[in-house]
Order: sequence, then structure tokens, then C-alpha cells
Amino acid sequence: MNSSGDEKSRLGNGVVGILAETVNKWERRTPLTPLHCARLLHGGKDRTGVSRVVVQPSAKRIHHDALYEDVGCEVSDDLSDCGLILGIKQPELETILPERAYAFFSHTHKAQKENMPFLDEILSKGVTLCDYELIVGDHGKRLLAFGKYAGRAGLVDFLHGLGQRYLSLGYSTPFLSLGSSYMYSSLAAAKAAVVSVGEEIASQGLPLGICPLVFVFTGTGNVSLGAQEIFTLLPHTFVEPSKLPELFVKDKEVTQNGKSTKRVYQVYGCIITSQDMVEHKDPSKSFHKADYYAHPEHYNPVFHEKISPYMSVLVNCIYWEKRFPRLLSTKQIIDLTTKGCPLVGICDITCDIGGSIEFLNRATLIDSPFFRFNPSNNSYYDDMDGDGVICMAIDILPTEFAKEASQHFGDILSGFVGSLASVTELADLPEHLKRACISYKGELTSLYEYIPRMRKSNAEEVPQENMANGVFLQSKRTYNIVVDLDEV
Ligand SMILES: NC(=O)c1ccc[n+]([C@@H]2O[C@H](COP(=O)([O-])OP(=O)(O)OC[C@H]3O[C@@H](n4cnc5c(N)ncnc54)[C@H](O)[C@@H]3O)[C@@H](O)[C@H]2O)c1
Repeated sequence: MNSSGDEKSRLGNGVVGILAETVNKWERRTPLTPLHCARLLHGGKDRTGVSRVVVQPSAKRIHHDALYEDVGCEVSDDLSDCGLILGIKQPELETILPERAYAFFSHTHKAQKENMPFLDEILSKGVTLCDYELIVGDHGKRLLAFGKYAGRAGLVDFLHGLGQRYLSLGYSTPFLSLGSSYMYSSLAAAKAAVVSVGEEIASQGLPLGICPLVFVFTGTGNVSLGAQEIFTLLPHTFVEPSKLPELFVKDKEVTQNGKSTKRVYQVYGCIITSQDMVEHKDPSKSFHKADYYAHPEHYNPVFHEKISPYMSVLVNCIYWEKRFPRLLSTKQIIDLTTKGCPLVGICDITCDIGGSIEFLNRATLIDSPFFRFNPSNNSYYDDMDGDGVICMAIDILPTEFAKEASQHFGDILSGFVGSLASVTELADLPEHLKRACISYKGELTSLYEYIPRMRKSNAEEVPQENMANGVFLQSKRTYNIVVDLDEV
């Protein structure tokens, strides 16, 4: 689309727009809170790069329009004065203004089919697109992420459903009194509710029939840490993966000895990483993470044999791609349930459809968070009442703690806004922001020139030539192997 010279002059003009989120009814987050806007405005354009902030009105945003007005923002549907427009999720296609810079989670860099019309629109309108997911520091670590909030909200939601599931299996548990994350006015309030569930477990115990109640957490990234943070509010013991079988033997003995007799007063946690998920095909070779990441085809999956038989709940938090073995294939879960296993449910925060959990065939909704999968007939159900395992796969979890997630996000984003709002040349942006620009004035930047090829071939992997500054652009998102290896 052609645009006037006047339109072109908007880029870098220091006027920032904040979108009303329209894509998902649950999206109540904001990229900048009124306080962040106040700091940017009151510092003055020369210091902060921001001269005005125009906020689209929204009656569902976690911070009301009036609070933005109070700190000097303008509230208007019209963002045409803005050179930089910020959102959380993408705006509606037809509302994209030409020759502006936009920043949001675009989900376009792996040529995601559903978002390609959107990218086409961005390019045809001469837009500069900065994707938050691609803002990584010099050491490859993502700088702007909601992962911990996803983990926290995900585990609270799952515990809420676990109470319902156990009830339908004939067990009353303290989990039943817990609400979903969004039902609490704050993260602190949700945590207080989990603490009170924990107190109930510590004083009243859990029915023996569901014990030992073992939560397995995959990975040690942000999502996993957030989920563990909630889990540790319950009376708990963490066990090493290799000790899981002992837990079962021990519990039996305790019962037989009549020591803790009829109830168990705690839950168990087990954190597993890739070395617990696979083993080398050559028995003479041991596991090396670098080798596994480079050559996953040399490794066999073992999670289903070593870990799965002992878990009641799987909290899945790993980054995964097709070249890696699945954590749990459908055949494996069918075999497991045929043999009999304690698995009650899967909290799949990764939400990779047909991904590391093969049977996951849909994302679920905040207001309808669970489905039931019955491995014995390979069928899916919307209720919590019959045979099989329950599964939760909400893909917009951090918005359930919209206030805290927005605060956290804006604390980091506000440090980038000045550059994004005031710079007119890509070359003048700091490196971490330059790398996150998928397009500049309607052209794909050099790091993302692979997108049309990937789109055409429908390839799953980003070509190897997309190694830049130590950052390996994987097919799903920017991911840094060096940092990840440091976790070992
Ligand atoms: N449902 C939601 O609302 C939501 C929100 C945020 C993130 N996510 C998803 O959750 C997942 C984790 O996000 P994060 O922020 O914790 O990422 P992260 O980078 O902080 O952590 C990723 C973890 O996965 C592990 N990992 C990476 N590749 C692996 C492999 N091949 N095999 C085994 N383990 C591997 C890493 O060691 C690390 O522990 C991502 O897929 C992300 O898209 C979902």
C-alpha cells in the first residue's frame, strides 16, 4: 500500500500508542502500566525518547483508562499520530496503520501458517515489526517473557481441576476449595489460597488411595520455576528421579507398619531434565546435553519407562521441536494405562499441539480449561467424569495474573520503548532490538529472510545459516543453546 510522505514521518516521532487488546476476550494485560507511562512522559522526550502516549480505550484492560489519563496519557481510538504502537497480542489486520513501528508477540518468525496473512499486511504497509519473543540479550537469554506467570497460573488452574477430577474418582481433597487463577484479585491472593490448601493437607492429610501424589515437572526454565513456586506452597518433598520407585515401596511399608496409617500429609515433587528423558542408543555412551541437542536422533526416549510409571501429575514445561523424541507418545500412554499407572492428569503448559505430548490435539480455554483423554479407546471428552487422564493446555495463562504480569513486562519493556519510539534507522537501534525486528519499513530484515522459503517449503526447521551472534533461531522461537547448556 502506498502511503503519503506525512505518514512516513511518524516513525521515530516519540509518540507511543497502546492498543486495546481485541484478539482474545481474556487478554487483560497491557505492555505498559500507567506508572510506566508516567515515568516515560515525565522524563521528557530528550531523556526518554517519548513525548506522548495515546492509549486506546478498553474497559477490560487491567488498568482503567482514567488511570492513564491521570498520568498525562491521551485516551483515543485514533493512533494515527503514533510512530510506535505497542500491544501484547497482534492487532486486527485491517487496523494496521502504514509506515509505523509495531511491537507485540506476532508468532510469525517460524512462518506460522495462520499468521502469514498478517505478516503480508505488515510488509505491504511498510511496517517495522519488533517481536518481543525475539528480544534476546547478548548471551542469548530472552529479555522479555511471561514464562514464570504462565507456570504460576498454570499450576493453580491445574490444582483446581485436580480437586474436581479426584471428586469424580470418589475422593474429597483440599484441592477442591481452590479456584482458578483469574478468580483471585492478585497473585498473592492466589498463593494464600494454595497455602491454605497446603495447611489442610498438613493437618487432615490426603486419602491413601491417591498417594503418593507425585508431581513431575519437566525442565528448569521460567515456566517450570513458576509452577514449582506454587507447588512448594504445599507441604512437599522433592525426590530425585532415580528415587521415584523407592517412594512407592516406602509408602507401602508405612501403610503396612501402620505408622501414618490412613492418610498422607504431603505431596511429592520431582524435577526432570533432558537427561531423564532419553538415553544414548549406543549403550557404551553416556548422556551429553550438547550432543543430544545436536544429534537427538542418536537418543532413545526413556521417560515413559523411568518416570511415567510413578507420576500422578505431569507438569510439562519444556521447549520442544519435532527433531526431538516426544516426552510421551500416544502409544506410550496407552501402554502405561493398560499396565496401570497412577497418572491422573497432565498440565501441559507448553501447549505444543501434537508436540512433546502427542495426544494433545487442542489448546484449552481459561473458562473451559480441561479435556479428558481416554487412552483405552483413544478418545477425547469434554467432561471430567469417565476413564482416562485429564489434560489442561491453556495457551494464554499469564493473562490470568494480568496485574503482576503487566507490571513485570512493563518494567523491562519501558527500558526499550525510548529507542523504539525515537529511532528512525534500523542501524541506530541497540543490537538486541535490531535482532528482534522481523521487518523494517516493510522489508524482512536479514535475520528473517528465511521466512518466505520456510513458508514455501512448509519446512519445520529454520535453516542452519540463521546462526547469528551466538543466537540460534529455532523454528519456534529464538533459543540459545549456550545458555541452556549452562543449566546442566
Ligand atoms: N501456555 C502459556 O500460556 C505459555 C506461556 C509462556 C510460555 N509457554 C511455553 O512454555 C514453554 C517453556 O517456556 P519457558 O519460558 O519456560 O522457556 P525457557 O527457555 O525458560 O525454558 C525451557 C526449558 O526447556 C528445556 N528444553 C529445551 N529444549 C529441550 C529439549 N529438546 N528437551 C528437553 N528439554 C528441553 C530447557 O532446558 C529449559 O529448562 C515454551 O514452549 C513456551 O512457548 C506457554
